Amino acid sequence: GTGLNALIQAKGKKYVGFCADSGTFGNAQTAAILKAEAGQLTPENSMKWDATEPSQNSFNFGNADALVNFAQTNGKILRGHTFVWYSQLPSWVSAINNKATLTSVIQNHITTIMTRYKGKIYAWDVANEVFNDDGTMRSSVFSNVFGDWTFLDVAFAAARAADPAAKLCLNDYNLDYSGAKLTNFVALVKTLKARGVPVDCVGTQSHLIVGNGAIPSYKSTLDSLATTGAEVQITELDIRTNSSPSSSQISQQQTDYTNVVCGCMKQAACAGITVWGVSDSQSWIPSVFSGMGYALLWDANFNKKAAYTAFVNGI
Ligand code: XIL
Repeated sequence: GTGLNALIQAKGKKYVGFCADSGTFGNAQTAAILKAEAGQLTPENSMKWDATEPSQNSFNFGNADALVNFAQTNGKILRGHTFVWYSQLPSWVSAINNKATLTSVIQNHITTIMTRYKGKIYAWDVANEVFNDDGTMRSSVFSNVFGDWTFLDVAFAAARAADPAAKLCLNDYNLDYSGAKLTNFVALVKTLKARGVPVDCVGTQSHLIVGNGAIPSYKSTLDSLATTGAEVQITELDIRTNSSPSSSQISQQQTDYTNVVCGCMKQAACAGITVWGVSDSQSWIPSVFSGMGYALLWDANFNKKAAYTAFVNGI
């Protein structure tokens, strides 16, 4: 094959993938690109808590099932995303104020979803974004009610019991440069593993900005993550710039994509790369970062960008 997934597998990595959901793969051009280029898919929104359990013990699987079926029909592995996260969390969960109730709610949520997709998910983001950017524990109903990191013990234990074959990940963003967040993330994973919490993989989202000075040394952050002994996955890669970029920004974006992909290729623990969308027309960036966009490998008209070639050059 000639797609990105085939190219990276030929060099010994497990996958190149993309986020998707019915709203994006329902577009015929997106579906065709995913079929040709992806080895792996991540649900962009359909497996989040607000989508799957909007009220207590009342589960919705329509969009998640659609993504799993699309992946299975087309031979793509899946990353499940995500359980314990402060965002896209329904208010009935945020309102829980005692540990016993929250423990059983976490266990029921994880067990129900992982049992439904048992054997079909390569890796799950069991917890997402549990750190502040200064490296301290992020405030959430989970950290506030437990008072320490032991909400992770509960979540990872429930996940391991529900689907023992799935790799269990801790995922976060802004791990792309040295500093307290990366240092403390690595230290937490080591501490969790030392007390028997089953953390199999670490995810670095890598929502990057064109020209960020840390990108040339991106491999060193993968090296730091690899010291945990866990598999390293680049889980949500995009490299944003102005929505109408200059020619120098376009060319810098190529350098940046090549550097990130090269970093993964040169770190044995890096298993694969998930890009956070296919076409710039479907990217989350413009709606969240005002004036920014142009972050992906296909333009708004579904043409391959120079960034695509830069990605290939990194493999
Ligand atoms: C984003 C989705 O792309 C958007 O469609 C949604 O509106 C908000 O969430 N970190 C994560 C992802 O872990 O789940 C987020 O996805 C992007 C940031």
